[in-house]
Amino acid sequence: MPGYKLAIDGPAGSGKSTISSIIAKKLGWTHIDTGAMYRAVTLLAIEFHIDLNDEASYRFLESVQIHYDNNRIYINDRDVTEAIRTEAVTQNVSLASSFPYVRQKLVELQQIAAENGNIVMDGRDIGTVVLPHADLKIFLTANVEERAQRRYKENVKKGKQAHISQVIEDIVIRDQKDSTRKESPLRKASDAVELDTTFLTIDQVVNKIIELTDKKEINHGV
Ligand code: CDP
Repeated sequence: MPGYKLAIDGPAGSGKSTISSIIAKKLGWTHIDTGAMYRAVTLLAIEFHIDLNDEASYRFLESVQIHYDNNRIYINDRDVTEAIRTEAVTQNVSLASSFPYVRQKLVELQQIAAENGNIVMDGRDIGTVVLPHADLKIFLTANVEERAQRRYKENVKKGKQAHISQVIEDIVIRDQKDSTRKESPLRKASDAVELDTTFLTIDQVVNKIIELTDKKEINHGV
């Protein structure tokens, strides 16, 4: 069954994963967090002590399985959901995900994972590259201060120490790297609906997207 494909893209801290996960739960759909997959590759690269700047060193991907299931991310059978959130991973993920080889490997896995059923997939290139024919494409934004505040609060909740100015700097650097890289940079697909979430609550964003999903389904039937 092909099913409905919902693509959600946006910069760091725009709320993609949180929103996607809630929508999937509410609608009984499958959520795939592609950022978690790039983070898993980065975690392994760090653990293997490879030269992170050398694309050929990422060939270890030929012999590992990375998959996202039910809000958890796995490398083979190892659950790395918490391990991928460290500072070291965050600081190196934009580099690891800039290599065409790494992207090609993960995009392939993402497209296979999205083949069947109703899917909410979030990332940076879902509407442009991974699911160019998605039924609905959303591009989530929020101003950088708001995005940093959200990330800061998340960190504090998890007991992580970080100064707000450091969080802002991390986000600005990552946005810059993600949107200027040669391979599949972060950008809004021409047919995506842009949603500025700066002054919206999570519930408001979720409801707005579900509303758009309904509209699209109705339009499809016409
Ligand atoms: O921290 P945040 O949740 O905003 O980011 P993420 O969704 O976990 O993604 C981490 C990083 O993976 C991004 O900064 C990008 O460098 C990369 N990424 C990508 O290149 N393409 C995707 N489809 C998803 C993530």
